Amino acid sequence: MERKIQVAPSLLSCDFGHMAEDIASLEKAGADILHVDVMDGMFVPNISFGQPLVKTMRALTELPLDVHMMVQNPERYLDEMAACGADIITVHFEATPHAHRCLQRIRELGKIPGIAINPGTSPEAIRYLLGDAGLVLVMTVNPGFGGQKLIPSALEKVREVRRMLDETGSSAILEVDGGVTAENARLYTEPGATLLVSGTGVFKAADRAAAIAKMKA
Ligand code: DX5
Ligand code: ZN
Repeated sequence: MERKIQVAPSLLSCDFGHMAEDIASLEKAGADILHVDVMDGMFVPNISFGQPLVKTMRALTELPLDVHMMVQNPERYLDEMAACGADIITVHFEATPHAHRCLQRIRELGKIPGIAINPGTSPEAIRYLLGDAGLVLVMTVNPGFGGQKLIPSALEKVREVRRMLDETGSSAILEVDGGVTAENARLYTEPGATLLVSGTGVFKAADRAAAIAKMKA
């Protein structure tokens, strides 16, 4: 079955001094969604940015914002992130004992609830969350940094999640994040990913539009 592939460039790789120009260039290059990596220095070693920058991004584009919360106990920030203009809010299964409650709250806020799993987490762990998720994010690197290499075993999990979604008749978006480039995108879409996050793969490309087009092809 042919599935429509969408690309979400990760703003973690943008030039924060020229964010407006970078966002405009991504829009022109055919980005479908913008991926926004919020890191707290606890759930992941790195600290990236928080609410004020998400708000600024919101003011700079009409594209949907896909907020990836690499944050311990993300339930603390769901309402604020919704108010800042997130369209998709994704929490990590590993970051909270109450992933189900998080998904419900995100839905109540009128946003698309996403659940993410790290490379070491089995898809089985989220089986009973799938009914409440509008998006499943399979991390294909360990979260925290851009520019890492794909962990191949994560692709088996993409296939497994695809099977689980199809079995339950779920139309949730299947997102992958980490190591995606124009050259290797097929490795991710063949097992069933429909939304490709790409940071360095888009930003380091000589021609961003060509890179995005190739990922979608
Ligand atoms: C990693 C972040 C990613 C990151 C991807 O923790 O979640 O979204 O920006 O970067 P690349 O595409 O360079 O692997
Ligand atoms: Zn991300």
